Amino acid sequence: MFTKDIYENRRQELKKLVSDGIIIILGNADVSMSYPANIFEFRQDSSFLYYFGLSHPNYAGVIDVDNDKDYIFANDFDIDDIIWMGPQPSVKDLSAKVGVESTAEFSEFSILIKKAISEGKKIHYLPPYRAKNTILLADVLDMKVSDVKPNASEELIKASVKLRSIKSDIEVAEIEKACEIGYMMHTTAMKLAKPGTMESEIAGRIEGLAISFGKMISFPVILSQNGQTLHNHDHSQELEEGRLLLVDCGAENAMNYCSDNTRTLPVGGKFSDKQKAVYNICLKANKECIKAVKPGIKYRDIHFLAAKIIVDGLKEIGIMKGDTDKAVAEGAHTLFMPHGLGHMMGLDVHDMEDYGENFVGYDEETTRSEQFGTAYLRLARELQEGFVLTVEPGIYFIPELTAKFKSEGKFTDFINYDLLEKEYKNFGGIRIEDDILVTKDGSRVLGIPIPKTVEEIEIFMAE
Ligand code: GLY
Repeated sequence: MFTKDIYENRRQELKKLVSDGIIIILGNADVSMSYPANIFEFRQDSSFLYYFGLSHPNYAGVIDVDNDKDYIFANDFDIDDIIWMGPQPSVKDLSAKVGVESTAEFSEFSILIKKAISEGKKIHYLPPYRAKNTILLADVLDMKVSDVKPNASEELIKASVKLRSIKSDIEVAEIEKACEIGYMMHTTAMKLAKPGTMESEIAGRIEGLAISFGKMISFPVILSQNGQTLHNHDHSQELEEGRLLLVDCGAENAMNYCSDNTRTLPVGGKFSDKQKAVYNICLKANKECIKAVKPGIKYRDIHFLAAKIIVDGLKEIGIMKGDTDKAVAEGAHTLFMPHGLGHMMGLDVHDMEDYGENFVGYDEETTRSEQFGTAYLRLARELQEGFVLTVEPGIYFIPELTAKFKSEGKFTDFINYDLLEKEYKNFGGIRIEDDILVTKDGSRVLGIPIPKTVEEIEIFMAE
């Protein structure tokens, strides 16, 4: 946990950005796996962590903008809990650590909110993403469950995006700790990527590594020889010499800050010439885009820089043809990279995605494209110093998408379908992802450099 002034300042800043009323920041409750007491690992809500810092289930935070007062509502443990869980700190003691003096039982939360509603106060809350909090809000706000999310406070969302988007030095230091765990996960995967090993063994070992540092993975491990499936959580294949293994994983550090990297490895340790050629196109896009990151540039423009590098590279090996700018403008590159170049990262691996992607990745000047592929961009807006984001170009050979585009007669001026179908059907996919801090005049890659070039990966895997 940070010192209490950090949380006090964050709540003060939020009060300055929200005109009036009451702000609700709900913590998370435990989630059951197979019967009520058999629970998943607890993960606190990231906004609650940001403003109230405490990682305990069944807490609610309230910020009274009008009266400049902050509250925490939670129940103290009784002797029955203590028998099973050991001695527990009191809600009062914990709340004092984050600068909140006013605490009360959880049941008082709805009493305070209902009173505020009866007094005509504005109630601000963030869009809930867990059923229990949605139902709690529906009950407290006397609303239909289906009305809760659409009525979340846009004013609060925008204010919180403004604050959470800019990472302070102490937050960046926490993210770097998460990156260090990520480094160990990736280099462990590199050591284990040998023919005959099951994907599930590597996925399990690297997930265990994340857990061994006290928290957990920042998202379910993506690890597959079928890397053309963008988020492949199926780990049921045995590794085969000569195939590519895409590993996309990250960890949360002790304070729930995240990392997220992707590397693509040759099973057995040596890239073929064909793999090397495609890999180096993706690597060039990764490196050039990192170089292009700076305050004031729109991330969508960097996304299109990646697209152009990929089209130019694929033209050199005969898969694409024609005018690069025209190919990108028409969206031909989306056959190979049907996703955005990256996303914001912080307390969530897709930072604040629960608020709504358009609030986080877009702004008044940057609206979402409707073109296939480009419409999926999570981050398009102008970058600012202090943003932490991922740069993750990819080149994928998705047979189903190739067949669809071909049957629709799409992009025949730009794509050599014959070569694709003859030689790249079973190629898989490549993604190379780093975590980047936007600095005053450029960017900095966070964490320990994970082997990334063909040579670095081959040397590391041979050791
Ligand atoms: N790296 C996984 C994701 O961005 O969802």
